[in-house]
Order: sequence, then C-alpha cells, then structure tokens
Amino acid sequence: MDDAVAFLDADAAALYDLVNPWDPARWPGDGFYDELVMAAGSVLDVGCGTGAMLHLAREHGHSGRLLGLDPDRAALGRARRRADIEWVEGTAASARWDAVFDLATMTSHAFQCLVTDAELRASLAAVRAALRGGGRFAFETRHPQARAWEHWNPSHVFDIVDATGRNLRLWHETESVVGDVVTFTGTTAAADGTVLRTDRTSLRFLDEATLDGFLAEAGFTIEARYGAWDGGPVTAASREIITIARRRRLGGERPPRRRT
Ligand SMILES: C[S@@+](CC[C@H](N)C(=O)[O-])C[C@H]1O[C@@H](n2cnc3c(N)ncnc32)[C@H](O)[C@@H]1O
Repeated sequence: MDDAVAFLDADAAALYDLVNPWDPARWPGDGFYDELVMAAGSVLDVGCGTGAMLHLAREHGHSGRLLGLDPDRAALGRARRRADIEWVEGTAASARWDAVFDLATMTSHAFQCLVTDAELRASLAAVRAALRGGGRFAFETRHPQARAWEHWNPSHVFDIVDATGRNLRLWHETESVVGDVVTFTGTTAAADGTVLRTDRTSLRFLDEATLDGFLAEAGFTIEARYGAWDGGPVTAASREIITIARRRRLGGERPPRRRT
C-alpha cells in the first residue's frame, strides 16, 4: 500500500469480497472452477485471497482436503472465518507439498501476479510438486491481445457502499506497460473524491506461446485450453487464456505407485 489514510488492509479485504462476490451461478468463470473443485478429492487453491471459492466448496459438501495459500495476511484473515479448511500464508513459490493434491487452482487472474521468469518457474515447480502424478492445475490469464489495461483508467469509476455503510468510489489507473508487465494503481476514495488508499500492482500478460513454454519446461502437459468461459477455443478476439494443465512425469522420475 502506498498511501493509507483510513482504509486498512482488513477493510480492503472485506471490500474485495463485496466487489468480487464468488458466485458460480452468476459468473461462468466461478462455475468453471466450482465444477473442477467439487470433482477433485483434494484441492490446493494458490492465491486463494479471501478464500471464497473454498468456503463455498465446503458449504456445498466437499468433504476432502481443501487448502488455501496466499501471501496476503489480511485476505487470509477473512479466509480463516472458516476453520474446516487449511489456510497457509505464503507465495506459490514457497509451497512445499509433495504429491498430495489432485487439483491446484489459481483463480481470478492470480496467475498474473507471477511477474518475473524466476518467480514463474519457481511457482510452477512448486505447484507441480504439490500435485499427485496426473494431477491438474487450472488457471486463467488475460490474453494480451485484448489489452485490458487500456480500460484501467479514472474514466471508469465504480461507486459502492461498503459493509459499514461508507459510500466509496473506486478506480484503476495504468501507470506503465513494460514488455509484458503492466503496473497499475487501484484507488479507494470517499464519495467526495478524498483518496483513502492507493494500491500498486504489477501483472504479467503472457502470450500463449510463452505461457506454454513455461508450462512444458515445468513438467506440465496442456489438457484443455479455452479462450472464453463458454468453452470456446482461443481466437483472435479472445480476452482470456484458460488452461487445465496436467502434471507430466519428468525424465528420471519414478511412476506413481499403483493403488491396490
Ligand atoms: C485477484 S486476487 C484473486 C484472489 C482469489 N483467487 C479470488 O479468486 O478471488 C490475486 C491473489 O493472488 C495473491 N498473490 C499475489 N502474489 C502471489 C504469489 N506470488 N503467490 C500466490 N499468490 C499470490 C494475492 O495476494 C491475491 O490474493
């Protein structure tokens, strides 16, 4: 956070849930992940934020292991409102599980927070290691051809009343585009425009070929690729690159033990 006047990290985490409610019945992207999660015996949600996806999975009767991982303490504070799910503070690259999850997810473009090559490689290696042989990693990244960052400017403001009854005005502003890394600010202001808080974020916009190069190098094969939540292919008009990648056996690795 760059400037904080009266809007704490916990307020920002609560506001996130208000602005981005997890609702598989309403948002096809949430429905896409919900289906995968409910069908998997164990799930690692990387960059879980406030934990809404796993909360709902448990609420809907998921009885297996659910674990949310995120470096943001305030977001995890909200996630921890449910104690029947494991919550771990840390980055994707810091994950140290060994072949225990059927499914890993990175939802709501969390994957784009992996900005440098080194962090991408370390994160993919750790996610792959956490998956059982044949386990799947599902995530989406915004397609660079749609240039989403061009819409992140103060002419698009969003007015909302937060949970405590405060009238707020929110907007984004792109600061720089350097190669495939976009840096922008998110501002939370009072209704009269007084700035309460500004957060700066950098996101990476990988193209398909570069993404697939990282996935192959890390030991994943691509099981499914979509350009939209309706399941259509990636086209010249796609705004998303949606991937289900499968953990592939690397040279020298022993095959997984057959269950009897
Ligand atoms: C846009 S939010 C998405 C949160 C949640 N997945 C959702 O669907 O609402 C991106 C999340 O990625 C997390 N994040 C940032 N860098 C990360 C990293 N290196 N490893 C894992 N998560 C990270 C942030 O803390 C944030 O909670």
